[in-house]
Amino acid sequence: MDKTAKIIIDNKTYEFPIVVGAENEKAIDISKLRDETGHITLDAGLANTGTCTSAITYVDGEKGILRYRGYPVEQIAENTTFVEVAYLLIYGELPTRAQLDKFSNSFTEQAMIHEDMKNFFDGYPSTGHPMGILSAMVCSLSAYYPEMQNPEPSKEEIDKIAVELLSKVRTISAFSYKKSIGQPFVYPRPDLKYVPNFLNMLFSSPAREYKIDEDIVSALRTLLILHADHEQNCSTSTVRLVGSSRANLFASISAGICALWGPLHGGANQAVIEMLKEIQRDGGNVKKYVDMAKDKSNAFRLMGFGHRIYKNFDPRAKIIKKQADKILNKLGIHDPLLDIAVKLEEIALKDSYFIERKLYPNVDFYSGIIYKAIGIPVEMFTVMFAIGRMPGWIAHWKEMIETPSLKIGRPRQVYTGQHQRNFIPIEQRR
Ligand code: CMC
Repeated sequence: MDKTAKIIIDNKTYEFPIVVGAENEKAIDISKLRDETGHITLDAGLANTGTCTSAITYVDGEKGILRYRGYPVEQIAENTTFVEVAYLLIYGELPTRAQLDKFSNSFTEQAMIHEDMKNFFDGYPSTGHPMGILSAMVCSLSAYYPEMQNPEPSKEEIDKIAVELLSKVRTISAFSYKKSIGQPFVYPRPDLKYVPNFLNMLFSSPAREYKIDEDIVSALRTLLILHADHEQNCSTSTVRLVGSSRANLFASISAGICALWGPLHGGANQAVIEMLKEIQRDGGNVKKYVDMAKDKSNAFRLMGFGHRIYKNFDPRAKIIKKQADKILNKLGIHDPLLDIAVKLEEIALKDSYFIERKLYPNVDFYSGIIYKAIGIPVEMFTVMFAIGRMPGWIAHWKEMIETPSLKIGRPRQVYTGQHQRNFIPIEQRR
């Protein structure tokens, strides 16, 4: 017989099946817990709760392992393009040459957004954060592509919408940047690949044609690939939860973008640079900030440090640190913020507070240094994360929507409020 877990409540024993994953990770299937025992589980932050099974990404936080569809992220980052990774995540296998060409060509065909959507950008003040604009624009796409709002889309419809979104998000992001600096929009070019096309839309202008630099393209491509998926993180879980109500892909991903925006999640890449600048302005006293992060009466945290899953190192951070050194050398940039970051890492990694809590630099610690070197403004950093995470969000939405007997996500709670009491008319309230 398969293994089971026993729960004893008031001397009565209940048995629940144990589910074992492909990498031997174990879960107690408690889907019948409430029906059988009248109890629910309480798990703040969902730190011990699996909400689905998934065949997309494997993470082992203790060993620092990250694999997309079984392939180690180190091999993927070294050998593939972002479009190829998107295909792998969404369809489960690496594409053949013919499949990849077809997929890439569809990106080129779908790169434009409806001309009317350009007017939306005029409605935002120049101070509007690009993540808010991106989320609104992605949701607005549903108004322009009503044929893609089918709550139970066919395989063909999912394929079409996936490509539309992956391609258009790049155009929307570049347009929102252009709007913020008061420059005319640069349209996508059919002769350019995904990453150079994006860089061209960001940095070309009527006054200056952007010269594509292969090292910059390669650095940005690596960053996008490293962000492409990370199983059930806050934003991906949001996409799944929203999508479980059969909301369309645009609406689900728009919600995911909002979840990513927070400084404890994707917004950390912007927060890291702001923190490093603050330390620099304050005279470069790194130890002062490490002490502040340890002080429980102070809400300050070292941004770019710590992770819910990784407890030894973040494999993405290792690759990014190397890329940061490479790109700064190549561009001949000496960034004093990098010096502060290195010092901060050195001090924190030797400190018992960080050692005991297993807090290491995460993916966001060095990514901002690269974005900054490439010339991407700080407010756009989290947008870059969103572009990178798009294939993962789409893959998870697709996997979820294709799950037979999909249930709407609806957690429970333990109520701690007032018992029933009688209404008091306003005249009698004190
Ligand atoms: N600086 C100082 N103390 C920290 C930090 C930090 N960056 N991160 C965690 N801690 C402490 C925390 O105070 C707690 O201490 P204690 O046990 O004494 O109460 C302990 O470490 C455990 O922290 P937690 O908040 O319970 O851990 P979590 O798994 O809920 O949070 C996290 C994970 C990433 C939100 C958190 O480490 C954090 O806030 N880091 C800074 C923000 C950041 O860099 N986020 C990007 C994450 S990677 C990109 C992504 O995938 O989103």
